[in-house]
Amino acid sequence: MTDITKEIEKRRTFAIISHPDAGKTTLTEKFLLYGGAINLAGSVKGKATARHAVSDWMEIEKERGISVTSSVLQFNYDGFCINILDTPGHQDFSEDTYRTLMAADSAVMVIDASKGVEAQTRKLFKVCVMRHIPIFTFINKLDRDANDTFELLDEIEKELGIATCPINWPIGSGKNFKGVYDRNTRKVTIYTDTEKGTKEGTATEIDVDSPELEAFIGMENKEQLMEEIELLDGASAEFDQDMVNIGELSPVFFGSALTNFGVEIFLRNFLDMTSSPLPRKSDAGEVDPMTNDFSAFVFKIQANMNKAHRDRIAFMRICSGEFDAGMEVFHVQGNKKLRLSQPQQMMAQERHIVDHAYAGDIIGVFDPGIFSIGDTICAPGQKFQYEGIPTFAPEHFARVRQVDTMKRKQFVKGISQIAQEGAIQIFQEFNTGMEEIIVGVVGVLQFEVLKYRLQNEYNVEIILENLPYEHIRWIENKEIDLDMLTGTSDMKKIKDLKGNPLLLWVNSWSIGMTLDRNKGLVLSEFGR
Ligand code: G4P
Repeated sequence: MTDITKEIEKRRTFAIISHPDAGKTTLTEKFLLYGGAINLAGSVKGKATARHAVSDWMEIEKERGISVTSSVLQFNYDGFCINILDTPGHQDFSEDTYRTLMAADSAVMVIDASKGVEAQTRKLFKVCVMRHIPIFTFINKLDRDANDTFELLDEIEKELGIATCPINWPIGSGKNFKGVYDRNTRKVTIYTDTEKGTKEGTATEIDVDSPELEAFIGMENKEQLMEEIELLDGASAEFDQDMVNIGELSPVFFGSALTNFGVEIFLRNFLDMTSSPLPRKSDAGEVDPMTNDFSAFVFKIQANMNKAHRDRIAFMRICSGEFDAGMEVFHVQGNKKLRLSQPQQMMAQERHIVDHAYAGDIIGVFDPGIFSIGDTICAPGQKFQYEGIPTFAPEHFARVRQVDTMKRKQFVKGISQIAQEGAIQIFQEFNTGMEEIIVGVVGVLQFEVLKYRLQNEYNVEIILENLPYEHIRWIENKEIDLDMLTGTSDMKKIKDLKGNPLLLWVNSWSIGMTLDRNKGLVLSEFGR
């Protein structure tokens, strides 16, 4: 095995998805604790950014431009090199989250045991399914009163359409939380509220058949556990690694991130059940991550809100080979050889310049405005493109008007650059000959951001007029004659910057009606 192969084999790159408040930050923190990357929990940043109000966003964003804390955390644990991709919790940044998932090899879904599947999880889950990546479930907050375990699993299966396989099983919840039972080893780990923020704590493990168990968990709990084990063994899906690999079966774990219970059990199993970076599709076939040749794609661009230097950081996921700071690379979409400047990486909390990075890693490079989301970078002499990153359906729309029409050039430049970063999407009326621009965003906060940035960075004042549309679909079969398409009274025909036709509706039921009225029409929630 070469050194490069060794490095790549120990990489695990994943994202944690959850509805805000389910415990993603807390779980991440505990992972870092095990990796020895931080000494005390409570120091993971990025939480503040997820929780701000509109008013303080600009200040935060200014900081965000300089520090890249909320992008990726790398640490070592038990011979593995782990990259956790941070997904912003605030729903207004969900588009960034979607893209981040494109860079992950697997996902961990954190669910609050008293809430079950929530809106944001549902949305993010869809993206994981689209990519067929393995999805692991951590059901959190067992130290609080939880919903019935069978019902929780049932909900995941029904709502998300994925089979579940509990690897362990909780005994009670809330004040009556006694521990978890490992179905493989048939041992019960007794719940201890570890000293907050540390990884200490004495884990007591008892064989499920041992007479001692009752003393720890009580007779009633024991009886219930035995019944549930029997039920489970008869009813639940068996563990099947192949099904896990294609994202059709989710291994489920129970615990409490806050009290650090069940976290290490989860981490160990997760690392065993996930793989190192796998080949990725490109227009020249699958690219083997273990080759010596470097390749990567851009999945996120972060603008520097500092007016004095309007630079950006492009985050790329390395898909194959080794990256060396001094090396020359080829930017496929720009058709240019270049050197990536100031490549940086996050090691736990600290940002540092990287000399070497490998397939599975994420690096952030200084972007003078040449990269777009989805761009491929590879070794000179090669020329292939990774599959593009789909555009996700915006949910809010507004018509944009300039206050001073003389500043058309700056306006177009500004709005195009901001769209290139992926914060907003721009559309035009279809066939009306009007130059008016319609902006679509995933979260309404982005409207404020657009206004602020156009004013501050491009000196252009705009008026946004909200439109009532909420549903958008790309037309997949482009041969359809848009003029002939019969829609509903609340439908609008538009096109994106590439000229792709799209439809907008106010009401969701109109989508079905439009499909009924136009036989053969194929619609998609994602644009390419
Ligand atoms: P998020 O990143 O998914 O948004 O969630 P985060 O980890 O910030 O957790 C949200 C809240 O839930 C926090 O409380 C956190 O302490 C709590 N929490 C996380 N895991 C557990 C758990 O296993 N059990 C219990 N009981 N609580 C948990 P907060 O009061 O909102 O914040 P803080 O003041 O504790 O920081």
